[in-house]
Amino acid sequence: MPALAELRRDALACTRCPLAKGRTQVVFGVGDPVADLMFVGEGPGEQEDLQGEPFVGRSGRLLDRLLHEEVGVGRERVYIANVVKCRPPGNRNPLPEEVAACRPWLEQQIELISPRVIVTLGNFAAQLLLDTRSGIKTLRGRSYPYGAAFVVPTYHPSYVLRSGSVGEAMAGIRADLVRAKEHLAVAV
Ligand code: URA
Repeated sequence: MPALAELRRDALACTRCPLAKGRTQVVFGVGDPVADLMFVGEGPGEQEDLQGEPFVGRSGRLLDRLLHEEVGVGRERVYIANVVKCRPPGNRNPLPEEVAACRPWLEQQIELISPRVIVTLGNFAAQLLLDTRSGIKTLRGRSYPYGAAFVVPTYHPSYVLRSGSVGEAMAGIRADLVRAKEHLAVAV
């Protein structure tokens, strides 16, 4: 069994934090296991918990559209995961201890997939991978080395949806995806 499939099998049985009790499904991640481009969101919402796949609700439809328009690929060409793999009740923010318990799954995913560019969506993923408490508004607009890869922090699609389609958030997420694509073109 490939290493990522083994990791998934183990994650599906995870009981490391109390979120395990409330979940319908563990939302491990989806996409190309050797993708150059990886996205990391926050945690599953209602639809993701039901379907077992990240970003399948409204935010996901926006992500799919922007991926198509700015990077020119479909979701099957990238890998999509979250900071926490189980839905926090009522879509509340994940607690620090839940993020800490789930962190090894994400770190092993990144190691096995070995993407060249990681686009973090929203505060939680950026703060975890960049080991900072700065907010996304401060962090976005540039890229950061992450081992041999680059992290490109951007807004969460749900924030972009709340902010409206012609605002700064939409322009920002589009610009960040273009930055990610440029990194893919030059990375060796
Ligand atoms: N929001 C996230 O951060 N992740 C999902 O999978 C869905 C919505």
